[in-house]
Amino acid sequence: MDSEVSRIFALRDLLNAHNHKYYVLNQPEISDREFDELMRELTELEDRHPEVADPLSPARRVGSDLTDGFRQVAHVYPMLSLGNTYSIEEVDDFLRRADNSLAGEKVTIVGEMKFDGTSISLIYENGRLVRAVTRGDGEKGDDVTENVKTIKSIPLILSGSGYPDMFEIRGEIVLPWKAFERLNKEREFNEEPLFANPRNAASGTLKLLNPAEVARRGLDAYFYYLLGENLPADNHYDNMMAARSWGFKVSDVMTRLDSIDEVDNFINHWDSARKSLPVATDGLVFKVNSLRQQLNLGFTAKSPRWAIAYKFAAERALTRLIFVSFEVGRMGIITPVANLEPVLLSGTIVKRASLHNEDIIRQLDIHEHDMVYVEKGGEIIPKITGVDVSVRQENEPPIKFVSHCPACGTPLVRIEGEASWVCPNKYGCQPQIAGRIEHFVGRRAMNIDGIGEETVGQLIDAGLIKNIADLYQLTVEQLVGLERFALKSAQRLVDGVAESRNVPFERVVFALSIPFVGETVAKKLARSVGDMDTLMAMDETRLAAIGDIGPRIAQSVVEYFDSPENRQIIERLREAGLQFAAENRESIGGSDALAGKTIVISGTFARHSRDEYKAMIELHGGKNAGSISKKTDYVLAGENMGPAKLEKATSLGVPVINEDEFLKMIEG
Ligand code: IVH
Repeated sequence: MDSEVSRIFALRDLLNAHNHKYYVLNQPEISDREFDELMRELTELEDRHPEVADPLSPARRVGSDLTDGFRQVAHVYPMLSLGNTYSIEEVDDFLRRADNSLAGEKVTIVGEMKFDGTSISLIYENGRLVRAVTRGDGEKGDDVTENVKTIKSIPLILSGSGYPDMFEIRGEIVLPWKAFERLNKEREFNEEPLFANPRNAASGTLKLLNPAEVARRGLDAYFYYLLGENLPADNHYDNMMAARSWGFKVSDVMTRLDSIDEVDNFINHWDSARKSLPVATDGLVFKVNSLRQQLNLGFTAKSPRWAIAYKFAAERALTRLIFVSFEVGRMGIITPVANLEPVLLSGTIVKRASLHNEDIIRQLDIHEHDMVYVEKGGEIIPKITGVDVSVRQENEPPIKFVSHCPACGTPLVRIEGEASWVCPNKYGCQPQIAGRIEHFVGRRAMNIDGIGEETVGQLIDAGLIKNIADLYQLTVEQLVGLERFALKSAQRLVDGVAESRNVPFERVVFALSIPFVGETVAKKLARSVGDMDTLMAMDETRLAAIGDIGPRIAQSVVEYFDSPENRQIIERLREAGLQFAAENRESIGGSDALAGKTIVISGTFARHSRDEYKAMIELHGGKNAGSISKKTDYVLAGENMGPAKLEKATSLGVPVINEDEFLKMIEG
């Protein structure tokens, strides 16, 4: 096969995989720039080879953010994207091309920030906000008006005068750095997955179905494009200044530039000055100011010819690798970590970066004491993206992955089909023991007050605990002898441990640290199996027969209970009085009134919160589902139920009930 054609197929697979990592898993692995470069290569090759055209190629895909649960609305003007450039030279080329096309006319350019959030289109009629729509697939987007109304910097009713009866304004919804950091801190505390960057946080927040939560998170919005008939001025800049006078937030960065030199200076200035802005930016945008000239230049299928984006290079820093440490997690997985000479990167000092696994170390061909490039990319934990080999000292050996556990010395084993090495010494390896105890006491597991990571380490060092069952034998007398423990804190810990006896069975199952048994699987197991003895006696076939439990989980559960060490711990936890059976629903006010029924909740309610209704459904034996399908038995509808949901329920013949009707169903 022609080598260009085989490259096309390889690029399609690669870009599809990166799209999935970015949009579905929320775990981008390459920078936007690297992605754009691959996409550019694919587009060029596809242009040269129409014989292998494919309408489903990633190059034909317009990014879509459409979500179930929102009404879709067609855009009056399609929402296009911008061409990207990565160097001053490319921007200069763009300006020269525009100059040439406009044959000798004076061209003024407007320079702006490229805000890194999620785009929004707002429609105003007679000075009032009537609709807010996301970009969606460019042709139609999601109606997120209720959520947008909670953003305080967006005017719902315009001030000033001179606005057209009807117009559209576009801008970017952003989560300012401060709000982003606060939100992630809170999520860390609640053991929820963190947002990789403010852009993901902003788009995730805008798509929440609960406007009260949206309001709480502190979104903001900057506006950069006015569309419609009878606009106040014949140029972009004056229109934006008019928009500012009507109450919109238009960035002060916006500047008119009259020559290529001025554009270049603007780039050089904002390349670094942007770091002190309160919101994330990923580049600059340059637009031809005159609307008449914009009209002359027109559009390509994807983007305007009168505007271009200049993307900032991902910030990276060069620093020296001091050494690689190999760290052991609670499941025994070994993670290599680069310990670095401290270096400033995007406002924070970086001292450590993940090297992920042995394959990555080999790909980077990293040697001891190398000078390495560190990038933040899309992730929170910085990563090493390259090595400056030109300054490598002779005789520095390549970094070798350890063959034995750095904590306990046991030979490592490689999990079949995976890139990770694991320490098999589960019960004798200190970081694994500590990790499991930390997990056990965590908020989503046994939620034991008065004990955290540091205390766990201290109790292990003092020889007071070696496993989770030992926690139930701690006494106030033992603790008060330790550093940092006063009578009050010792009592608090002992009380916390005692209270954990009431934690429901499903969380006990989660707390045990059975490999592959996360919160959802634990819940499923606890509810379908009912009690610990049954769970311990089940074989792989019976376990795998439970919905959502695959063979890998089944095998892991059986292995866990096969171990004599684990059995002994389980018996001690039983003696300590932990919940070893799922709660009998009647004893806590529940019933089987909704047994076998699947119910979807939609809208907002007057008598109870959505979470309370969800709990009630489960308490009475029903199942709460997120979206309406043929399997839905009822839709429990409150105020403002989305019209799309109502339509779907009606078309599938699913009964829609209100809260009073629901409460009657579970009464008595
Ligand atoms: S103008 C037809 N100006 O970048 C041109 N876009 O790749 C419309 N963006 O979808 C866009 N800051 O979400 C424009 N100052 C700015 C911008 C900006 C951020 C985003 C926007 C758009 C994307 C284009």
